[in-house]
Amino acid sequence: MNEKEIKKYRKAGKIAGKAREKSKEIIKENKTFLNAAKEIEEYIEKKGGKPAFPVNLSVNEEAAHYTPGKKSKRKFGEDQIIKVDIGVHVDGYVGGDTAYTIDLTEEHPKLIEASEEALENAISMVKKDRKIDEISKEIQETIEKKGFKPIRNLTGHGLSKWKTHEEPIIPNIKSNTNKKLKEGQIIAIEPFASTGRGIVKEGRHTEIYSYDKNIPIRGKTARDIIKKVKEEYNELPFAERWISKDYQELKMKMALKKLTNKKALKKYPVLKDSKESMVSQAEKTIVVEEEGCEVLTN
Ligand code: CO
Repeated sequence: MNEKEIKKYRKAGKIAGKAREKSKEIIKENKTFLNAAKEIEEYIEKKGGKPAFPVNLSVNEEAAHYTPGKKSKRKFGEDQIIKVDIGVHVDGYVGGDTAYTIDLTEEHPKLIEASEEALENAISMVKKDRKIDEISKEIQETIEKKGFKPIRNLTGHGLSKWKTHEEPIIPNIKSNTNKKLKEGQIIAIEPFASTGRGIVKEGRHTEIYSYDKNIPIRGKTARDIIKKVKEEYNELPFAERWISKDYQELKMKMALKKLTNKKALKKYPVLKDSKESMVSQAEKTIVVEEEGCEVLTN
C-alpha cells in the first residue's frame, strides 16, 4: 500500500466516522427510514466520499442488510433497536465501514454495551502477528459474560479497493484458525450481540445487490442494469432504490430477478436472528500496525 492509497483509505474512514456521528442527529422517532438513509448517503457525498454500500438500518432481530426501498413508509419507533451500518469509499478505496446501535426502546443498555465492549476489547488486541482466533475468543467471551450470544455466522472482514469483504475473516466466536493478522491489512471488526440464537438466516426481503459476473443476458432492461451497475459501483453493493429512477418498476423487478437467478448479480437478503430477538452491532475499520493499530473510522 503506497502513500496515495493510504490517504484515500484514511479519507474514506474519516467520512464514515463523521457520517456515523451525523446519523445520530438524523435518526429520530417518527421519521422515515427512507429519509434517514437518503440524508446519511447525501452527507457522505457532500463530504467527498461515496457510499461503499447502501446505509443499513436493520431493526430488532434483523442483524444486517436492511435498507429501505424507494416506496418504504417504515418509521422509527420506540419499539426498535436500529443497527446503523455505514460504508464509505474514496475512488474505490473502502476505508470506512462502521456501525453502532441505537436503542429507541431504552430497555436494552446491556445489549448495546456488549457489542461495543467486544469491539473495544478486540481493537485493543490488534497488532501484527496477532492470532485472529485470540481476537475471536475475546469477542465471544465479552458478549457471553454479559449474558448474550455472539452471532456466529456474521464476521469481521478485510477491506480493499472495490472490495467490502476480503481476507482475513474475523469470526465473532472461537474457530481454531491459525491465521494471524498482517501489518498493513485493513480490517473491519464487527461483533454482534443477540438475545436470540446467535445465528442469522436469510429473510425474504432483498433491497441490496452487487455485480457478480459477466454472462450473456437476454432482455434490454437486464443488460442495461448490469452494464450500469458495473460502471457505477464496480463490485460494491448497491440499493435497488439507487437505480430505480431509470426503469419502469415491474421491468426492473423482473430484470433483477433474472440477473440474480443467473448469478450475474449477487443478492443480499435481510439477515435475521430468531423471531422477537434483539440484536446489537458495533463496528470500526482499522489498519493493522506493528505495535497496535490505527482506527480509521473514529
Ligand atoms: Co462490515
